[in-house]
Amino acid sequence: MTRLDPHSYNDANQPDVAHVTLALRVDFAARTLAGAARLRLREAGSGPLDLDTRELAIRGVRSSDGTPLAFELAPPEQEVPWLGSRLRVNLPAGTREIVIEYATSPQASALQWLTPEMTAGGAQPFLFSQCQAIHARSIVPLQDTPRVRVTYDATLDVPRPLRGLMAAAFVRREEGGDRAVEHWTMPQPIPPYLIALAVGDLASRDVGPRSRVWAEPSVVESAAWEFAEVDRMLLAAEKLFGPYDWDRFDLLCMPPSFPYGGMENPRLTFLTPTLLAGDRSLTSVVAHELAHSWTGNLVSNASAEHFWLNEGFTVFAERRIVEALYGGEMAQLQAALGRLDLDAALKRFAERPQLQRLRTPMQGVDPDDAFSEVPYEKGYLFLRTIEEAVGRARFDGFLRAYLQRYRFSAITSDDFVRALEDELPGVFDQVEGRAWLDGAGVPPNAPPPRSTRLDNVRALVQAGRVPTDGEAARLSPTEWQLYLDGLPRPSTLCAELDKTFSLNASRNYEVLASWLLLAIDSGYEPALPRAEEVLAHVGRMKYLKPLYRALAGRKETRDLAGRVFERARHAYHPIAQQVVAQILS
Ligand code: BES
Ligand code: ZN
Repeated sequence: MTRLDPHSYNDANQPDVAHVTLALRVDFAARTLAGAARLRLREAGSGPLDLDTRELAIRGVRSSDGTPLAFELAPPEQEVPWLGSRLRVNLPAGTREIVIEYATSPQASALQWLTPEMTAGGAQPFLFSQCQAIHARSIVPLQDTPRVRVTYDATLDVPRPLRGLMAAAFVRREEGGDRAVEHWTMPQPIPPYLIALAVGDLASRDVGPRSRVWAEPSVVESAAWEFAEVDRMLLAAEKLFGPYDWDRFDLLCMPPSFPYGGMENPRLTFLTPTLLAGDRSLTSVVAHELAHSWTGNLVSNASAEHFWLNEGFTVFAERRIVEALYGGEMAQLQAALGRLDLDAALKRFAERPQLQRLRTPMQGVDPDDAFSEVPYEKGYLFLRTIEEAVGRARFDGFLRAYLQRYRFSAITSDDFVRALEDELPGVFDQVEGRAWLDGAGVPPNAPPPRSTRLDNVRALVQAGRVPTDGEAARLSPTEWQLYLDGLPRPSTLCAELDKTFSLNASRNYEVLASWLLLAIDSGYEPALPRAEEVLAHVGRMKYLKPLYRALAGRKETRDLAGRVFERARHAYHPIAQQVVAQILS
């Protein structure tokens, strides 16, 4: 037996699934997806085939001619419950295809079922999936590891008033009675964590030749305006990284409980509505998810142990797109914010130095529990260090060669080192690559962010004062964040900041979150009702985690944190509920 991914029961000696045909009926009353998955193997196999599942009700397994096949569903293992249950099917000699009839659990960890009250429209329910890192197994029985890429076809049978979208190419929609069936196909092989669906009252607006924005009808106009620059981003990204391989780049603006800022589902990026600031100031998240079309979706991490290959490369690519569109200062300011977040994450992991490494040992670790800014920002800094050592032109050459060499495959950190050695011999040792990959903390050769605007913000922090009206008028949201995050706490400036700049009313959620954290840390009570509102309305973990940590970290607000969570948790995604419960425990 050879298990190459600590988060999958896949045995590398068994045949790979190559293509999946899904037929699923969406049942909002039962909160289940029910139907069948037809799995086609890359080559005919025999003997045991181990698949990943999580809380699936397996109705039966048969061969393509209908013969029932013997199977065994193992109970979840005590020490690693997040892996779910191994489904072992016994393949008769020469088997090329099997069909699994099944239904998902109402608690499927990849799914959030929203009642109408949790949507903008208030009249229709909503469903969405979030499979990264290892939740695809809770909606499809398969080898849930990025090492085994699959193509797929799918039909979603949905209530007729709703649209059933997938991160795939649209084929057609058939309506009959009170139901509609939507057909989708994904012709390019993808890691299973990129399988995605959303069902709801959804409308769309075209915003470019390759892009449209989807959202609930009452949100779609403002979403289309906010993301109207997406085609410029696509063109800038293609200039940097080569042709866009996925045909369309559509955006889906989700209900507020979406647990991430964005998710790079191929052809249909999912985005939090907290990006709708009304001034396009948060579109770097779109640049990030777009960049994943190259780094992550074309070249994928082989397991969560090499997650930095997805996220570190993508943050690097995101900041190159930001630089191309909005200038080098903006990219540097965002890198400075990233550095603050990284230092905070390293501090949180003081007792878990393995999670400070880029190459992260993950045996016995739940990827949702290990999630942090480390792979993002330390990964970014590692690539910047290499870029500084060889110069931008040579680094860009490496990047192109790396993408070409590994497209449509899943790679480890060693594969990265091999490509680096081939393209830029000697630089890995020159920049102390070993320390970057396998050491804790940030090596001292990391390049610091450089920008005069950054210097100005730092001077303001140093002076320990609030900005004048004139200064404030020139601060971008990113500079506001750097200022607020940089203030020592507890701060005595909260009342003056609140009075002069009405930060509780900021439409920019990043600025709002930075302000609320400063206020909570400083014991500034007038901001607490706004913090409660945010926690009750928004399920994005980037805000939930620090806000709950801050509230729970002070005795004056500890009980409040527990009360707010009890009131709000039913509206959070299952992963967010779990993560917050852990913070409060
Ligand atoms: N792929 C991630 C989201 C993710 C990571 C989901 C791990 C599940 C497990 C996505 O690309 C991402 O990084 N989103 C960020 C935004 C980005 C600008 C840093 C987020 O959600 O905040
Ligand atoms: Zn990402």
